[in-house]
Amino acid sequence: MTSETLVITSDSLLAAEAARLAAASGVTVEECPDAVGALRRWQRSPLVLVGTDLLAELASLRPPRRDGVYVVGWGSTGEPMLRAALEVGAETLLELPSAEAVVAGLLADVSDGEGGDGLVIGVLGGSGGAGATTYAAALASLGSERGPALLVDADRLGPGAARVLGLDELPGVTWGDLGQTAGRLGGRALREAVPHVGSLGLLGWPGSDASPPGPEIVREVLAAARRGHDLVVVDLPRESALGTEALLTGCDVVLVVVRANVTGTASAAKLISRLPERDRLRVVVRGRAAEPEAVGRALGLPVVASMPDQRGLSEAIDLGLGPVRSKRAPLARAAAEVLTRCRVRAGAMAA
Ligand SMILES: Nc1ncnc2c1ncn2[C@@H]1O[C@H](COP(=O)(O)OP(=O)(O)OP(=O)(O)O)[C@@H](O)[C@H]1O
Ligand SMILES: [Mg+2]
Repeated sequence: MTSETLVITSDSLLAAEAARLAAASGVTVEECPDAVGALRRWQRSPLVLVGTDLLAELASLRPPRRDGVYVVGWGSTGEPMLRAALEVGAETLLELPSAEAVVAGLLADVSDGEGGDGLVIGVLGGSGGAGATTYAAALASLGSERGPALLVDADRLGPGAARVLGLDELPGVTWGDLGQTAGRLGGRALREAVPHVGSLGLLGWPGSDASPPGPEIVREVLAAARRGHDLVVVDLPRESALGTEALLTGCDVVLVVVRANVTGTASAAKLISRLPERDRLRVVVRGRAAEPEAVGRALGLPVVASMPDQRGLSEAIDLGLGPVRSKRAPLARAAAEVLTRCRVRAGAMAA
């Protein structure tokens, strides 16, 4: 596969506009002014932009199904166009000039070689104060040493993942800004817009009250986050204000942090019984009052890591030192263990 975007159009203005946007994103385009010629190159490019001028002709040639096909044209596009777009398997119709930013985002993703490959790990507390936010922050923090990582704070009512990471004073985009997003969000654009230090970013909440984004936005944001980062960790809410369904289905794996005692396990069992997609769930045990295996058996789920309570952790976080001060500390070890397992995955996490 080449890294060039294939632009299928005989409209020289449209081709020039695509080339301009591509140049701004640091990528090149391969122009193809006829549908038959396009068919030959159809499978080679990560991204294909089909001009509305050649769409009907291309649809009549029945190109094979593939991802990453978008239809672009000037002004409004009618129903026959929509039908043809469906026939070529396009993701969506983009009307220029209004969709300029969306096209630029798509091209930027190509320039990053983003194939939607990042791993998305959800973290959920089995009971209140179990340590989910702290564990999620540790995962993202350690993960960022290997490549771009994003911690997504999806718990509007929690004390805030930003504070745990020590990123609460930094400027950048929050859920409050994304609530209005229409259309596809670029992975790189999101990565650059959120508050970040080095390769660790955070998507959190604005200081003032923001209305929670709907499931469509949640899905779009998680997909963009995955495209723009090697690792995305989502601090999930137990009582959801955001669409829980959209959040959970956006994660490759969901780790439930469970306190190793009777109350913690009972509470986690109740929560787990309400969750869909049980085969994505894994357990991280915190504390030593009960054996991790016993907790796993009681919940009927695999335990992927366990850790004793870490002395001085709350104090270190309060001082803004972050969740991972020493790699040898229990929290860091338990996070590293899960990251190693996840990297062995092929599509799903190895239990
Ligand atoms: N591994 C750990 N060892 C010791 N203390 C911890 C550990 N993890 C979290 N804590 C402490 O427990 C408290 C709750 O942690 P945290 O906010 O991460 O839990 P949570 O499950 O996200 O809670 P909430 O229900 O509020 O979302 C904090 O004071 C935190 O510092
Ligand atoms: Mg929390």
